[in-house]
Amino acid sequence: MILADLVRVSNDILKGKTKSLEQERISENNLLAISEFLKRNPQFEVSNLVNIILHNEINEVCDWNIGSLLQHFDYNEIIDVLSNIKPSMRGYLYDSIGFCWALGECPYKNEQVIEFLYEVINNGRNPESWWRASFALEKITGKNAINNLKRSMKNSESLSLKESLQDLTNKRNIINILLKSNSKDIKETIYPYLKRRFDISRDEKELINIIWLLGRLRLYDSEMVNKSLSLLENSQNYELKYYILQAMVEDPKILYLDYFEKFLHSEDMLIKKMAISGIGDFGNNNYVSKLNKMLERETDPKIISALTTAIYKIENNYFNENRNYIKKYMVNENGLIGDDTDKWYADASIYNLFSEAEDPQNICFNLIFKRILAKKLKIINPIDMATGTGRAAKYILNNIGYEGTLYAVDYSQQMLDYFERTINRQKYYVKNIDLVHSKIEDFRIPNNAKSSFIISSFGFPSKISDKKRCRDELQNVYNLLSEDGVFVTLGWDETFNDELNNMWYKYIPDNIKASNFEEWRKNREESITSPRNCDLSWYKTNLKVPLLYDTLEETINVMGHLFGRDAALEILKSRKRMWWMSLGITWNDKKSISKILKNNK
Ligand SMILES: C[S@@+](CC[C@H](N)C(=O)[O-])C[C@H]1O[C@@H](n2cnc3c(N)ncnc32)[C@H](O)[C@@H]1O
Repeated sequence: MILADLVRVSNDILKGKTKSLEQERISENNLLAISEFLKRNPQFEVSNLVNIILHNEINEVCDWNIGSLLQHFDYNEIIDVLSNIKPSMRGYLYDSIGFCWALGECPYKNEQVIEFLYEVINNGRNPESWWRASFALEKITGKNAINNLKRSMKNSESLSLKESLQDLTNKRNIINILLKSNSKDIKETIYPYLKRRFDISRDEKELINIIWLLGRLRLYDSEMVNKSLSLLENSQNYELKYYILQAMVEDPKILYLDYFEKFLHSEDMLIKKMAISGIGDFGNNNYVSKLNKMLERETDPKIISALTTAIYKIENNYFNENRNYIKKYMVNENGLIGDDTDKWYADASIYNLFSEAEDPQNICFNLIFKRILAKKLKIINPIDMATGTGRAAKYILNNIGYEGTLYAVDYSQQMLDYFERTINRQKYYVKNIDLVHSKIEDFRIPNNAKSSFIISSFGFPSKISDKKRCRDELQNVYNLLSEDGVFVTLGWDETFNDELNNMWYKYIPDNIKASNFEEWRKNREESITSPRNCDLSWYKTNLKVPLLYDTLEETINVMGHLFGRDAALEILKSRKRMWWMSLGITWNDKKSISKILKNNK
């Protein structure tokens, strides 16, 4: 741009005109020059820029230019302007990608900025500004952008996976695809469809979103990589290049390094910054001296921070460890708890680690068996219903004397196979134990014998929302119990008011509509009308026990599998290994179950 052009743009801004800002994206250096020009003009106020967004239906190029200009002004002034605009008047600001982006560059944490960005996430009409606001918020608060977007959709009616795939230009659809994707859909529907669209689409918005999804889901195959690399060479679209680089960083492959190296010298500061962080994320030692040299010469503060971060990421072992965890464990989009095609307990070894981490001191089991002792109940043919990998059964084998056989019942063969291996390894076979592949409602003890003690830990009823199944399962428990027998369940205390449920709310895409944890918790609580939805009787509630893992790696592995990749990332950042759970124990004798069944005919 020559001086006359800079003057023309600056004058346009002062008069609230937009023509000169609508034609093309102005380069970083020219925007900086324009901002210097404006700062020297006594008539100029930051509100001149914001008003253009507020009062005009500007095009995306103009919006981008204004946003990029704003980053060069004093953020106190920008925030002042923002706070003088009532929420009811903020319509076009909510739509503005540029404004949301500029707020993300705010060098300090400011409540008004954070509040505004949340307003966009919760009320924004424009999917692009909605998306941008969440990434801006991530920059300022460290809160995971994708997770925030996913959660903001929890409270609204959403399209099906198929409908969302129909329009890949819309960022809301992109997030909905993530929410709706289980491992089967990714393999059978999403991957082939994205591949096809990526091949034929000429729409840059669509391509950008496809590339982002491919990177996120780690679906890049070599054909796609080649096409991306040629787009990287030939496209003029800055955003497209940015997303290609970002997708490459998500799933680093050695052949990308040449490209990152090339972009180290890009004129565009953001591309240059991406390339530096890309190299940092690869952790390749060959680049350290080059990055150090660049650091000596560099004057732009944003590039300086990217350089120091990258050097640390390559050289320090702490970051190598993080990188390995990310590669190994941050693979499940939504976690297997909510994935019907790949049920969490299908992977028994992972489930076993989870189960063993719950109440590791066995406070709850100790409590149950102390009561059994106090009541002088003779344990005959004990049953662990929905035994899983045998958490309750193992407690009995290790601590309790019984007559007859211990029956460990589960409907998943993988769980039983896993438990059988434990039995052989620990030589539990010296006691009488039978593993039985059966549903709770179908299990019978051979020769119609009875049990004086039936326990279920996190297994009864098998589906709490299914009234008929609850009743059938309780009926079978009744039939199995001896006259003096008791039925005990251990599980949530059904307030769902604990740290682990908070994780659930944050990371599992379930069908509970809620805009915050308290709303979600209440909905979940109210969906259950009595203990275990079976009118059982509480013996104890509010048993606060931890889910506690031995190591960080185990935590990331198990929680990443069960709660998904964003949960694993949060754990990696916070290094948290423990979540409080609020548990409850129900206790019923045969007589009281008979009453329940009679009342629920
Ligand atoms: C949350 S796990 C609990 C496992 C174990 N009791 C524990 O405390 O770790 C639930 C178990 O119920 C089993 N299950 C689900 N539906 C069942 C049914 N209808 N009959 C028997 N087992 C079932 C699953 O295979 C899984 O092992």
